Amino acid sequence: MRGRLRVPGDKSISHRSIMLAALADGETQINGFLEGADSLATLAAFRAMGVTIDGPAHGQVRVVGVGMNGLSIPIGPLYMGNSGTSMRLLCGLLSGQRFATTLIGDQSLSRRPMRRVTTPLCKMGARIETTAQGTAPLHIAPAKRLIGIDYPMPVASAQVKSSLLLAGLYADGETCVHEPAPTRDHTERMLATLGYEVRRDGERICVTGGGKLHAAPITVPADISSAAFFLVGAAIAPGSNLTLEQVGINPTRIGIINILRAMGADLRIQRKPDLGAEPVADILIRSAKLNGITIPLEQVPLAIDEFPALFIAAACAEGQTLLTGAEELRVKESDRIAVMAEGLAALGVQSVILPDGIRIEGRGNAAAVFNGGSVHSHDDHRIAMSFAMAGLRAAAPIKILDCANVNTSFPGFATLAARAGLAISEQTR
Ligand code: S3P
Repeated sequence: MRGRLRVPGDKSISHRSIMLAALADGETQINGFLEGADSLATLAAFRAMGVTIDGPAHGQVRVVGVGMNGLSIPIGPLYMGNSGTSMRLLCGLLSGQRFATTLIGDQSLSRRPMRRVTTPLCKMGARIETTAQGTAPLHIAPAKRLIGIDYPMPVASAQVKSSLLLAGLYADGETCVHEPAPTRDHTERMLATLGYEVRRDGERICVTGGGKLHAAPITVPADISSAAFFLVGAAIAPGSNLTLEQVGINPTRIGIINILRAMGADLRIQRKPDLGAEPVADILIRSAKLNGITIPLEQVPLAIDEFPALFIAAACAEGQTLLTGAEELRVKESDRIAVMAEGLAALGVQSVILPDGIRIEGRGNAAAVFNGGSVHSHDDHRIAMSFAMAGLRAAAPIKILDCANVNTSFPGFATLAARAGLAISEQTR
C-alpha cells in the first residue's frame, strides 16, 4: 500500500452537520460532507421536513436553516436505511417537535435495539412507540412537554448521549447525561460551534433547553473509521508506505491509532490546522511486525467501529490478541464478533468467541496469513472492507459477498484501495 490519499468525510460529523444546520438560524455551508447512503438518509429526512438543502456536490452542501421550531410535518415515514446514527439521533430530535413522525429502516436497522434511546426519552416526556422487541418502526407523537432529566447511561454510547442532548434542546430546564466511559463528542463540539452552550463536568454533559443555534461554516474531516482499513492494510502489507490526509483525530476516536501502536505499528501523526472544533492530522504509516496484545478496556469505546479492521491486524500479528468489554459489537450493523469469527475461520484463522469479545490466534509468522476463500459480510460495510484488506496477506483470492452496503460509509472504497495497491475488483450481480 503506497501513496497519499484522502478517505471520504467523517460519517458521524456529516450526520450532525445536517441536523444542526437545519435547526440553525441562517445558511450553513458544509464542506467535505460524506456522500454515503447513511448520511444521505439524514439529509433526505430533513428535506422531507421542509428544509432547503442544495447538494451534495463534491462534498459541498448548503443548508438553509429553519430555526429550532421551523421543521414541517413530513408526508410519510422517514427512511433511515442502514443508519443507526440517523435513527437514534433523530428519535431524540423529533421527540421535541410539534408533529408526529415515523422512523423506519432496512432489515438490519429494524433488528437493532432502540429502547436505549426511547426509555430515557420517554422519561423526559417523549411519546414513542416501538415494536414489542423494542425495535423500529418508531412512532413518535408530539409530547405535551419535555422535561430535562439527569441520566446515567447504562452503555457508553455516543448515539444515546446525542439523542438525549438533542431532545434536551427542546426540554424545560437542564438535560444531563453521564457517560460510563468517554464516547465521541462531535455533537457537543458542533453545538458549541453553532453557539449553543454545552457544559461538561467530568463524565456529566449538560444542555439547557430553549436556546438557539446560529449558522456557521462546517468542514468535515476525513473519517478515521474509513482510514482504519488503510491503516491496517499498510501495517500488514510488507513494503507499505502510505499517507492518509486530513484525518479527524478527535481524542474520542483514536483508539485505532493507540491499539495499532501498542501492537507495534509504525505510525506517525502530522498535526494540521483544526477544522472548526475538530483536530486533524495527516497519518503516515509503514508496514511493521505486529504483536498480539490484550486490548486495554479504556480503548474499546474509542475504537468501537474499528474492531473488524483490527481483527485483521490481529490475525497478522504474532501471538494472541484478546478483546473483552466489547459486547456492543454484537448489536452493530451485524453481530461483528460472530461474523468476523466466521470469516476468519473461512480463511484459516482461529479465534474463540467470548460473550463480550474475542481471542484471535495471530499467524504473523506465516508468509500467507489467510487462505483464499469466500466470506459473507452479512451486509455489514465494515466487515466487507476489513476482509478486503486481508487480501494483502492471502495465499489466494478472497471473495467477499454482500458488499453493497460499503456505500453506506465509504463510496469509492474499491477504487481508492486499488489506487493504493490492493488487487481488488467489484462484481455486481
Ligand atoms: C456513532 C456512535 C457509535 C458508532 C456509530 C456512530 C455516532 O455508536 O458505533 O457508528 O455517530 O454517534 P454507539 O454510540 O451506539 O456506540
